[in-house]
Amino acid sequence: MEPIPYGRQWIDDDDVAAVVAVLRGDWLTQGPAVEAFEDALRAVTGARHAVCLSSGTAALHAACWAAGLGPGDVVATSPLSFAASANAARYVGAEVAFVDVEPDTWNLDPSRVPADAAAVVAVHYAGLPVDLRRLSRRPRVVIEDAAHAIGAVTPDGPVGNCAHSDLCCFSFHPVKTVTTGEGGAVTTNDDALAERLRRFRHHGIVARPDEGGWVYDIPELGYNYRLTDVQAALGTSQLAKLERFVARRNELAGRYRALLVDLDVGLPPAAPAGFRHAYHLFPVHVAHRRRVYDHLRRNGIGTQVHYVPTYRFGAYSSQRARALPHTDALYAGLLSLPLFPALRHDDQDRVVAELAAALETAP
Ligand SMILES: Cc1ncc(COP(=O)(O)O)c(C=O)c1O
Repeated sequence: MEPIPYGRQWIDDDDVAAVVAVLRGDWLTQGPAVEAFEDALRAVTGARHAVCLSSGTAALHAACWAAGLGPGDVVATSPLSFAASANAARYVGAEVAFVDVEPDTWNLDPSRVPADAAAVVAVHYAGLPVDLRRLSRRPRVVIEDAAHAIGAVTPDGPVGNCAHSDLCCFSFHPVKTVTTGEGGAVTTNDDALAERLRRFRHHGIVARPDEGGWVYDIPELGYNYRLTDVQAALGTSQLAKLERFVARRNELAGRYRALLVDLDVGLPPAAPAGFRHAYHLFPVHVAHRRRVYDHLRRNGIGTQVHYVPTYRFGAYSSQRARALPHTDALYAGLLSLPLFPALRHDDQDRVVAELAAALETAP
């Protein structure tokens, strides 16, 4: 039987045609197709600005830099995320303070952001938005890590509109809902932040046209974090299918919930009233995770663990990770089941049957 991956991009003829059109044109790196993708991202999120970057990690790095975070600043974030959420704060020299997740959202508890935090990087884990209205205190900078959450909605509108944040970061890696191969973006409503993001992705260059058409300065160092037009063309074409992708993910998640109801499995938190889940992932909680993981893998079911908590990595031994009991309890049993738009119902039935068999053989 064909193996079932845990995630897979959906690429159709429209996407291929959009990329081919750019390849046949004059411009390959950042140009008009990047601008068009940024316009499409502004339309989808409702933000005033969208700035594309070469990855979600670059987007988070740029957001931390643009916001002026640096040495002496404490950045609070979730330990239950891909390391990039915390790494970005470290890249600019800030210290990371991990905040325990809540058992009923699996997101960082907004009421427990430490009083000395200059910033919070709020990760919308699996695609369920953090309720930023519940921040006990608004730090100087609020950044959303929405790598999982394009297409999610809060009572204040689409994730990415920055209703309660300064900057919102997206990833377009192939397992994400919308892909550009590699790619990312930051949205913001702040003109000055948008200008800094654009500067950062292009070596920190500031043109000085009054001194000559060729003259520029680099007042602060930036990077080459540009997205290419080839990637952006794919992104615009993918974004046109966002609604369909997220609706399908929600439908499959609902079906998993029904199929798993009689198994001894902890289900992921559902979206509260007024929120829409993007279901980038469908993580469950099981006993004897190692055996279940090995059984599923042996039987062709792609499963992953999202995530080893970041504070456990060697490179994080110097960072602040006070008691994280909910994160540790959750991590002990976490397992993501396959979820992607092309997943068929009979694939899903097979996943659930193998999961049931794995749970039966566990001691
Ligand atoms: C929560 C989260 N943040 C950031 C990233 C980094 O994105 P990218 O892989 O595009 O650099 C990822 C992706 O893996 C992620 O899952």
